[in-house]
Amino acid sequence: MNISAKGYKPKVLIACEYSGVVRAEFEKRGWDATSCDLLPTDKTGKHYQGNVEDILYNDWDLIIAHPPCTYFTNSGVCWLHKDESRWAKLDDAARFFNLFLDHPKCKYIAIENPIPHKYAIERIKNRKYTQTVQPWQFGHPESKRTCFWLRGLPLLAETNNVKSVFEKLPKKEAQRLHYLPPSKDRWKIRSTTFKGIAEAMASQWGGYVESELAKQKVLNLQRVVCCALCNQELEEYEIKTCRQMWATEPEMICETCWNRIQNEGYKNVMP
Ligand SMILES: C[S@@+](CC[C@H](N)C(=O)[O-])C[C@H]1O[C@@H](n2cnc3c(N)ncnc32)[C@H](O)[C@@H]1O
Repeated sequence: MNISAKGYKPKVLIACEYSGVVRAEFEKRGWDATSCDLLPTDKTGKHYQGNVEDILYNDWDLIIAHPPCTYFTNSGVCWLHKDESRWAKLDDAARFFNLFLDHPKCKYIAIENPIPHKYAIERIKNRKYTQTVQPWQFGHPESKRTCFWLRGLPLLAETNNVKSVFEKLPKKEAQRLHYLPPSKDRWKIRSTTFKGIAEAMASQWGGYVESELAKQKVLNLQRVVCCALCNQELEEYEIKTCRQMWATEPEMICETCWNRIQNEGYKNVMP
């Protein structure tokens, strides 16, 4: 289902996304999608460059967040014992992560991160991830175990399992991200969301939120209103300027017909 351009457009915030990959999939579905990152976006579209806390409490129907994982990831836990300064950074990362998990307004939330270590889990109030996925479940013959913490959303179901292809690939290809050579963009390439996963998010979570909003009569509430005289569809801004006419039932008249009535008289304009 694509949302009618005339209807209410559900609003999704893709927090901590510079790539625009997830945002683009929601845009295709007709959503009002905004990505946000401290960095500029790699893909043209609605992007807020700045601290996500500036816009986090706007009216979002869905939030998908990809907070930084540097101090959370299990693979980096040994650094905590080698570098004392990392404990304070871990505390700050957990505060940031909890902003999404404890969001007071938005009912549908997904947070994505790699497997966290036990100190990170403690700092997010022992809330374990809801599920883990692999790119090979979504059409990419690669491995990168990713966790989702979900609030109000169903588990993301696999869409195109290519595990058998993945298993036959040489190690360097199957573990492409692990073997990336050093470069200034290495972290970006490693952290960009896989397109197959982004597509599944939009179709499954987007579809789920659409059906929930429809049940709550938020979607499709805005009916299409036509001018009672020329039958042209009235735009939202015109509806506000419509007058209730002298007919037995209140009628909506577009600005052009209203002006014609003023100038030419009601009888001459009436069909
Ligand atoms: C792990 S990356 C996620 C990348 C994402 N998967 C994508 O495809 O663009 C984490 C991102 O969080 C951003 N970030 C960190 N703190 C932020 C903040 N306070 N507000 C907005 N973005 C932030 C970083 O700039 C970084 O790009």
